[in-house]
Amino acid sequence: MTAQVPTIALNSGTTIPQLGLGVWQATNDETEKAVRSAIDDAGYRHIDTAAIYGNEEGVGRALANVGVAREELFVTTKLWNADQGYEPALSAFDKSLTRLGLDYVDLYLIHWPLQDDTRILRTWDALEVIAESGRAKAIGVCNFEPRHLELLVGRGAIPAVDQVELHPHLPQQAVRAAADKHGIAVESWSPLGGTSNSGWGPNSKPNTLLTDPVITRVGEQYGKSPAQVLIRWHLQNGLIVIPKSVNPQRIAQNIDVFDFELSDADLADIATLDDGVRVGAHPDALNLGAPE
Ligand code: A2P
Repeated sequence: MTAQVPTIALNSGTTIPQLGLGVWQATNDETEKAVRSAIDDAGYRHIDTAAIYGNEEGVGRALANVGVAREELFVTTKLWNADQGYEPALSAFDKSLTRLGLDYVDLYLIHWPLQDDTRILRTWDALEVIAESGRAKAIGVCNFEPRHLELLVGRGAIPAVDQVELHPHLPQQAVRAAADKHGIAVESWSPLGGTSNSGWGPNSKPNTLLTDPVITRVGEQYGKSPAQVLIRWHLQNGLIVIPKSVNPQRIAQNIDVFDFELSDADLADIATLDDGVRVGAHPDALNLGAPE
């Protein structure tokens, strides 16, 4: 089965399916099963992993066995912070490719903006070398605030993507405005409000969007679940969305979102949920995993 997932053009000249499968907090075995089910049964073509998730091998095992050609798939992985810097990034990328069992990834992202601009720029230099070699079709960043994006743009470097925490409680208008200005696509992480043990940053809270009365009421009009309403909200906002699930029914449900549309009134109701509350850390609050 192939779902009608739209694609978004990236400034790299490649395109990205607007909906993909996230796999944070899944083991290698869970990830392998989830990725196979997503691609072979549910019609996903886009998988989002990261070195720090510890499940690139699970993704790789699944990709080696799915019934879809590599060129029809879009695979993202991310450089962990401990490997930022020029040489460390080159070597970490090689290890990711090996674990994935791939010759190239479609998107390689810096996972977090270290509080060290010089190192961020050296890391970016490495990503450009990787992109020039064809082993990453596009390169980008995660959790970059507008000032981090300006740091790169000021050097003539335009990331293809900025992947940030984004959901109705945190619509990230400032990041989206800065990204739009430079033709950078925005991807939403924790698009459903995160996992049950989210709320891991200072001042962040576990999110309750999946049981939120406004989201639930909107869904009831269409016979759709809160997760499906949230995924439509991202799609209709022009965002790239990567809901995580390891459950085959929920994986299928999360891509079954192309037979209804949120109205302007629904979008206005959902807009009332914007209170700026995060499930994860603000990028400036944690220098996560910084190299010594
Ligand atoms: P599970 O993997 O057991 O399905 P986010 O993508 O915002 O991080 O949210 C992921 C969380 O939401 C996971 O705990 C995942 O659990 C759960 N989840 C994913 N899809 C659905 C769904 N359709 N309905 C309810 N919970 C879901």
